[in-house]
Amino acid sequence: MERLRFHTRQTTFRQLEIFREVAERLSVTEAAHALHLAQSSVSSQLGKLQQALGLSLFEQIGKRLYLTDAGREVLHSTRELFDALDRLEMRLGQLHGLTAGQLRLGVVTTAKYLVPRLLGPFCQAHPDVEVQFNVANRSEVIRRLQDNLDDLYVFSQPPEHLDIQATPLADNPLVVIAPARHPLAERRNLRWEYLADQRFISREAGSGTRRAIEEHFARCGWTLKPHMTIESNEAIKESVAAGLGIAILSRHTLVHTAPGNLVELDVEQFPIPNRWYLVRWRSKPPSPVAQAFSRFVSSGASLL
Ligand code: PGA
Repeated sequence: MERLRFHTRQTTFRQLEIFREVAERLSVTEAAHALHLAQSSVSSQLGKLQQALGLSLFEQIGKRLYLTDAGREVLHSTRELFDALDRLEMRLGQLHGLTAGQLRLGVVTTAKYLVPRLLGPFCQAHPDVEVQFNVANRSEVIRRLQDNLDDLYVFSQPPEHLDIQATPLADNPLVVIAPARHPLAERRNLRWEYLADQRFISREAGSGTRRAIEEHFARCGWTLKPHMTIESNEAIKESVAAGLGIAILSRHTLVHTAPGNLVELDVEQFPIPNRWYLVRWRSKPPSPVAQAFSRFVSSGASLL
């Protein structure tokens, strides 16, 4: 037997709306009146709907109309459908007014110190925005960008090979850190060569911080020889504080460091200048919430 299909190409919302009116009143005359339509167009639209479904939705006994079993099923689903459309309309209206919606951010690990400070005032101004904050190192965030998983991204080294728009957000200086009681802590204008015998703790390959450091070292003609590689800024800070070596990290990572744990060394050619960027695909129209966030952070309404 041929499977019954709801032929959406032949069935219109208008036909379903007309059907609902008739089904709820069990009267073509009353439905036509309520819809400001001629009785003949109500009957003709009902006829088309029944033809498309291949089933009778009403039966007439004497002068009265009754819903068939199929009619009851269609009425039930039509109500659900219109409820869903109402909810969609409401949701779109809220999005339009920017009171609701989702903001998906792909953020490189080092930017996790900065982004919450941008999000705080934004979420206060838009309390119904739901934020999904995805944190990973640079190469993983590039993968998220290529897979189009988020609305906006924060990098300090935006990928050069992709058609993206990168808006500068804030400075992200990279500094040399050492344990607080380090013998060179009080020295000024240290030369990097002077630190060459120190054990150096580095972020992993794939990290934007590591990449910025390697580029800076190449420009200066220095060589980088990490003694230890750690995938986490926090673990690097702990290791430096514990005397395992020195490191180069974003100054932002030091914001919540307990005083007396770490010290920033004063080294020539440092800090390495670096910048945060808010990144999005040039060709992808931003959602209203993403647009609002971009406007918010670039208008200076945030802390920067
Ligand atoms: P990272 O990112 O956390 O991967 O080092 C910082 C960046 O992209 O510059």
